[in-house]
Amino acid sequence: MSGVLVVIPTYNEIENLERIVERLLAAVPAAHALVVDDASPDGTGELADKLAAREPRVHVLHRTHKEGLGPAYVAGFGWARSRGFDVLVEMDADGSHDPAQLPDLLAALERGADLALGSRYVPGGRVVDWPLHRLLLSRAGNTYVRWALRLPLRDATGGYRAVRAALVDRLPFEDVASHGYCFQVDWAWRAVRSGARVVEVPITFAERTLGRSKMSGSIVREALVRVTEWGLRDRLADRLPGRVRRPVPGRTRIGG
Ligand code: GDD
Ligand code: MN
Repeated sequence: MSGVLVVIPTYNEIENLERIVERLLAAVPAAHALVVDDASPDGTGELADKLAAREPRVHVLHRTHKEGLGPAYVAGFGWARSRGFDVLVEMDADGSHDPAQLPDLLAALERGADLALGSRYVPGGRVVDWPLHRLLLSRAGNTYVRWALRLPLRDATGGYRAVRAALVDRLPFEDVASHGYCFQVDWAWRAVRSGARVVEVPITFAERTLGRSKMSGSIVREALVRVTEWGLRDRLADRLPGRVRRPVPGRTRIGG
């Protein structure tokens, strides 16, 4: 697949960055990598610059402060589009997403998908070494999302995905306000709603061995509040006059 850019958001990933970039370029030599660093205090941004200086397939986007995963990806996608890449990939820097599985995601696009979601919760998908509380949070979060948003996905919160640039261009990323990990749910939902062909591809997610997760209480709260709000608004919209409604059998439709 031509013009693949893997966007890797980083915040304090100095122990992980070099290894993940090496593994990625070994697994998919035609791919380019864009590190989107939010001015990590541990020097990840400077390390990314060094990697970019010696490897033309590596690029860096520096941001001035930590704004969360959502804005980092929106900036990365914008960078990619202005340079004409036609497939964009999301991948964590900490080794949880195996670059050796990237060809599976790209193959799903070649078979006709617009968006291939790496999924831990479809048959063949796995989670390795996550503490029980993280696994429960993730499973409960996905169950809630499926119900609240009526979203037919097993893993809408995951962060390993490949998307055709044409779909990215169609989705209004400018008004994505999600900062934390609910950014993933936000745009997966937009994609499904837009009628895009979205498929889930089994992946093995392995807990990081170095550095720390940036998951926090405020990220969980943001996700809970936003998903609830989207779900309520969506159900309300079903009832608004002027919307095209399914005709109710045996009743005359009045108005809209
Ligand atoms: N630039 C930037 N800014 N990068 C960030 C920020 C930020 O504010 N917050 C996190 N990151 C980067 C991390 O450095 C890492 O590369 C990646 O985003 C994922 O962050 P982790 O903190 O390792 O996430 P996790 O392992 O707890 O969560 C995983 O599961 C979530 C729920 O399923 C990830 O796969 C998430 O993407 C996923 O939503
Ligand atoms: Mn992680």
